[in-house]
Order: sequence, then structure tokens, then C-alpha cells
Amino acid sequence: MGILERLYLHPTPPARVERNQDKRQKKFKKKWIEVDRYIAQRLGPSDPVLDMALKAREAAGLPDINVSPNQGKLLMLLAQTIRAHTILEIGTLAGYSTIWLARALAPGGRLITLEAKPRYAKIALANIAHAGLSNRVDLRLGRALDSLPALSAEGPFDFVFVDADHENMPEYFQWALKLSRRGSLIVVDNVVRRGTVLHAGASKPEIQGIRRFYDLVAAEPKVSMTAIQTVGVKGHDGFAIGLVTADP
Ligand code: SAH
Ligand code: DHB
Ligand code: MG
Repeated sequence: MGILERLYLHPTPPARVERNQDKRQKKFKKKWIEVDRYIAQRLGPSDPVLDMALKAREAAGLPDINVSPNQGKLLMLLAQTIRAHTILEIGTLAGYSTIWLARALAPGGRLITLEAKPRYAKIALANIAHAGLSNRVDLRLGRALDSLPALSAEGPFDFVFVDADHENMPEYFQWALKLSRRGSLIVVDNVVRRGTVLHAGASKPEIQGIRRFYDLVAAEPKVSMTAIQTVGVKGHDGFAIGLVTADP
């Protein structure tokens, strides 16, 4: 069996194969980063507010797991395309993706973002205020699964971005659909995870969460979804994008 078959077809690759996979990623990652920077420099004009949000995230010691600048712009473009008035984000971190998405809101639109960690929420609120978006963004502190049931009264949401823990990704997807309408867009981050999504036998709840998410989508007639693998500053991962095709 060749290396690629072992990497991509073997359900539980041996540790040696995992290490090779890491080496391969390292070799290519430098170029992915350079290309991401090139794209950002050409197509995503530098923006002091977004740059500041990232600096504040870093200075506060929050993890470097926000969407990349190019992914942030993609989120904004998608939300603009559907003229979103109501946006739900699950997983705020420092509010970087929140700012991109809130900028896409149609006049009078609102964004609700859910974050479990008070320390992260504090940084996010400062970033959102600095971006001049406090009047349009509503941060709900608490575990997403605790906050979501109350949102039924505030939906439906035109656009939902799922970007929190991977373990509960299937539950977040179910909520996203429940809080949607026909024509809503659901975007889910981290659906590839360096290809570890292929590890059917993995014991990690994060990997199983992502796989259960795909199982749910595959069996859900009210959503038409695909996933695109991404490489860049965040390594090899993926974005799932789905259109709600019937009222849930
Ligand atoms: N969307 C952000 C990145 C989010 S990182 C951006 O691109 O800028 C994932 C976030 O989800 C972290 O801030 C983490 O604290 C939060 N999170 C993890 N588990 C959660 C849960 N159960 N409920 C709410 N937020 C959660
Ligand atoms: C990681 C990356 C993410 O985009 C995310 O939402 C959570 C975690 C990570 O690389 O660990
Ligand atoms: Mg993510």
C-alpha cells in the first residue's frame, strides 16, 4: 500500500504514518502560509480594527484558533450574498470572526454570538466595541448548549456559523437547522482536521463529533451541504457550507 493510501484509506493509521503526515504538512505549510499572505495582501486590504482584534487576542494569551483573514472575508461575503439580517455564531473567542460577520449585516441587522469562557468574552467585547459594532452584536456568555434553547424566540437566523468545540458539532448543527428557515446558510469550521476526520476508529471525542456531524448531514433532507478542504495559515482543515432547503 502506498503512503497516500495508508494516510487516507486506513481507518486507524499507525503512529508512524501520523508522524509522516505531520512532516508532509510541515513541508508544505510554509508555502500555504505565504500564499495565504499573498491573497490577504492583494484582496483583503489591511484593516487596523481587525489587526487590533488579533493583537488583543494574542496579548491576552488566547489561543491562535480564530479563522484566518481570508476565511473571515469569505464569511463576510457569504453573509452579504444572502443579505443576512440575523446571524448566529457559536464560538466567539476574541470576536475576530464576529467582526467580519457583523460587518456583513444588512442595516438594522443583529448578530448573536455564544462563548463559554468569561475571560475570552471580555476580550471579545472590547474588540467588538473597538470595531464600533456593540449595538449590533449580542454576546451570550455560557455553554452554547445551555444558551441555544432560548434562541428559538429570537430566530430564525439567516446565517449560522458553527465554530466552537468539535465534540458537540452534531448538536450545534441540529440547533443551527432548528433555528434556521428555508434559504438560511449554515457554515461549520474544522470539518477536516488534517484528515483525522477519516479515522473511524479514533477514540477522541472531537474526531467522533466531526464524524457524527457528517452522518447527520448525510441523513438530513432539509440541508444541501458540502465541505471544502482548506490549507493556509491554519494548516489543513475544512469549511462545510450548507443551504437550508426547507423550513425546519
Ligand atoms: N469563531 C472564532 C474562533 C472560535 S474558537 C473566530 O474565528 O474568531 C472556539 C471558541 O469556542 C473558543 O472561544 C471556546 O472557548 C468556545 N467554546 C468551546 N466550547 C464551547 C461551548 N461548549 N460553548 C460555548 N463556547 C465554547
Ligand atoms: C482549533 C482550530 C479551530 O479553528 C477551532 O475552532 C478550534 C480549535 C485547533 O487548531 O485546535
Ligand atoms: Mg474553528
